[in-house]
Amino acid sequence: MLFARFAESLAAIARENKTRSLDVNQAPQGVEIEIDNRRLLNFCSNDYLGLANHPVLIEALQEGAHRYGVGSGAAALLSGYSEAHQELAEGLARVTKRERALIFSSGYMANLGVMSGLVARDEKVISDQLNHASLIDGVRLSKAENVRYAHGNMLQLEAALITATPAPTWVVTDGLFSMDGDLAQLPTIAVLAKRHEAILVCDDAHGFGVLGGGAGTVTHFNLQETDVPLLVVTFGKALGTVGAAVLGPAVLIESLLQNARTFIYDTAPSPAMSYATSRALRLVTEDASFRERLFSNIRYFHAALRATGIPVPSGEGPIQILLIGEEATALKVAAGLRAKGLYVRAIRPPTVPKGTARLRICISAAHERQHLDRLVEGLGGYRDLFRPLV
Ligand SMILES: Cc1ncc(COP(=O)(O)O)c(C=O)c1O
Repeated sequence: MLFARFAESLAAIARENKTRSLDVNQAPQGVEIEIDNRRLLNFCSNDYLGLANHPVLIEALQEGAHRYGVGSGAAALLSGYSEAHQELAEGLARVTKRERALIFSSGYMANLGVMSGLVARDEKVISDQLNHASLIDGVRLSKAENVRYAHGNMLQLEAALITATPAPTWVVTDGLFSMDGDLAQLPTIAVLAKRHEAILVCDDAHGFGVLGGGAGTVTHFNLQETDVPLLVVTFGKALGTVGAAVLGPAVLIESLLQNARTFIYDTAPSPAMSYATSRALRLVTEDASFRERLFSNIRYFHAALRATGIPVPSGEGPIQILLIGEEATALKVAAGLRAKGLYVRAIRPPTVPKGTARLRICISAAHERQHLDRLVEGLGGYRDLFRPLV
């Protein structure tokens, strides 16, 4: 009886085709995974550069563990802050040309920390409607007013800025949107934020390591710290490890250190992992071949889709979206692809707006041409179900 409402809620989720489930991968993360003892070609990993199981990073993680240990042992402000963390913070600041960085255990924690630690209750936050859940939750924690503009709608953003109160206003956006695969119009957003004296925050979880020579979306658009004061980068995607950092002017980063509860009360990340992340950072910024292979694969995928008569997604980065609409249809297509050995997940509400269930295909630098050929052949069987994302 005590748990009856949970059982009812789960049944309702199932009726709406919204049940989420875990697949257990028996192989390392990579373009070929193994689920239920069956090899599948993986098209839903954020390991965009194929680094999660790269020998250089495996070695770096081992070396990091030997030098600094596996666990950090405490929160950073107790005894948990290691030289490995500090070197990573300095490396990130150098690559992104920012004054200072603070390392968090994850992007979720970083975003909660920024929004709840820096935004005051009487301030206003203006956010793109499709921002990541962690940013939305962070604003909720801050108790500030959250004004959301329609995805990419610069007129609505400007209207919200014009009606802003005298208290500081914040503008918050993803750099590369995780479920649409498109880029924020950062140059316009930066101009508008400056004009209205708002502080701009960019969560570049998906652009970091991939765009702008590896430095991310802000650099891709030739923008600086003065245009986009706060930058959040995460390591669990292109860098192939786990963790995150917030970068920006020293006064904001010091305020974060003093105020962000997700920094202060969280065990510091594994120093071995931070050591490996520094290695990943060097790899992606010094060796352009990973990014070149990724973009060459994206071009190849687009050409193959075009030749098969499938709408070509507009994604400029690794995230490629094929819109379907109905949840049940999207699930059917994903199941059909899986039967052919292609692992593509259907993304459904509430992750995306109602009626916009879709396939989210992630291209990796590690995919081979024959992998992409197999994917396009599989997608070809459902050609008429796909619509372009507008
Ligand atoms: C845009 C965006 N921001 C933040 C996060 C959270 O980062 P993390 O996985 O490191 O918690 C994610 C996804 O994981 C994301 O897609």
